[in-house]
Amino acid sequence: MHRWLLATAAAAAFVAAVFVSLGAAVAQQPTIIKFSHVVSPDAPKGKAAVKFKELAEKYTNGKVKVEVYPNSSLYKDKEELEALQLGSVQLLAPSISKFGPLGVKEFDVFDLPFLMSDDARARQVYASPMLGELNKKLETKGVEPLAYWDNGAHVYTSNKPLIKPEDFKGLKMRIQGSKVLDAVARELGAIPQIMAFSELYQALQTGVVDGEDNVPSNILTQKFYEVQKYLTVSYHGRLTYALVTNKKFWDGLPADIRDPLARAVKESTDFFNETAAKDNADALEKIKASGKIQVHVLTDDERKAWVTKLMPVHKEMQSRFGKDFIEKVYRSSGFTPSS
Ligand code: LMR
Repeated sequence: MHRWLLATAAAAAFVAAVFVSLGAAVAQQPTIIKFSHVVSPDAPKGKAAVKFKELAEKYTNGKVKVEVYPNSSLYKDKEELEALQLGSVQLLAPSISKFGPLGVKEFDVFDLPFLMSDDARARQVYASPMLGELNKKLETKGVEPLAYWDNGAHVYTSNKPLIKPEDFKGLKMRIQGSKVLDAVARELGAIPQIMAFSELYQALQTGVVDGEDNVPSNILTQKFYEVQKYLTVSYHGRLTYALVTNKKFWDGLPADIRDPLARAVKESTDFFNETAAKDNADALEKIKASGKIQVHVLTDDERKAWVTKLMPVHKEMQSRFGKDFIEKVYRSSGFTPSS
């Protein structure tokens, strides 16, 4: 009897020890953050995602492991926002022009032509309390915005020179999902086609679409300049990313993980903004130097013609966003619509 009791006690102690070490092992498992994005690793967002990974793993002393999935390798455009809301991915940095499907249409307002083309005005908007109000709307959709990344102003590429507004007539132009970008294309007489970023190169190569607008660093790293004949430096719009996470995931993190992550967010945001400004300027030079595409910078007069042609979109969008909201956006950006 005595021996049996000793054996049982020893077995129980052994099992308990196993459970304790298992518990410790599980507790020591790092928190996995999947960071999915649609651009090349060499693009500013690709570099900043890796920067975030380095800083997050360093500042949390390995309590977090970040897995970066570039080039739509995990999720394509639309899928990634759904996956974030479901909690299948923890971090994204999509263009805010793709937030419409989330049900927060107000973000489309930043696509109003020439509203954000000026760097100083754009910085004013990113710093304005108005974005705070929009962040609250995103939170109601289970999405927690952590930062805004400024990837600079848009240029157009196409297989036909785009100098005058009427040059767009009848062209099939790829757009991101925003209703304002749709209205811009229609105002120019083009046919807008919403398309995932990952499908764009092939669509340009095969002629499914005639052109698109983007930032030089995307045009370079995705090699769009190899399948397009003309590039117009128009700076008519802007590519703004929102670094977003799943709200439940973020709120559920212990402070000793969330605080160092917030620091990594801040520092990778500064890194992104510096890198994007430099990479977009360099990319435009490299594209020019390639000799594979003809680059035209709009003259002041040509630009005035585009502004005049596109101002009706601002009017048209008053019915969608309300006059008051649009005027609030003008005040926060310092933009004055030309009559
Ligand atoms: C696009 O779809 O053109 C861009 O938003 C892609 C990106 O994330 O830079």
